[in-house]
Amino acid sequence: AVQRTFSIIKPDATRRNITGKIIDRLESAGLRVVAQKRVHLTKEQAEGFYAVHKERPFFGELVSFMISGPVVLQVLEGEDAVAKNREVMGATNPKDAAPGTIRADFAESIEANSVHGSDAPETAAEEIKFFFKDEEIVG
Ligand code: CMP
Repeated sequence: AVQRTFSIIKPDATRRNITGKIIDRLESAGLRVVAQKRVHLTKEQAEGFYAVHKERPFFGELVSFMISGPVVLQVLEGEDAVAKNREVMGATNPKDAAPGTIRADFAESIEANSVHGSDAPETAAEEIKFFFKDEEIVG
């Protein structure tokens, strides 16, 4: 079924000016960018977005990294968009990511891993709502 998922192009990628290369991977996989904005997250936004990871040892560093530069927030639409996006991204740790995936080709480390993508349709809906109003999404 046609789904939507939420994607972030992270500060390591905006810093290296490779957002276009990443978007090309997403579009080539059949995903359509139906909403997009480049923002510099506040500490409060980053903490709120990653609240599920609050107790993890890497939480503080993750938040600092996510506010270290601009990010590109996106809503992606397509057939099985959540799973498709995860496939194109590759594993969280670039060392484990399959060849040809975004993280295998672009990520710098497990933290600076270039992209975020929702892990399930329910999470996608919540994450999209966290950053986008309905009228900002144009399918
Ligand atoms: P993301 O898919 O955005 O979800 C949580 C993020 O935490 C992850 O990508 C990484 O950027 C970051 N992170 C840093 N260290 C770890 C770790 N040890 N395990 C998982 N995620 C980590």
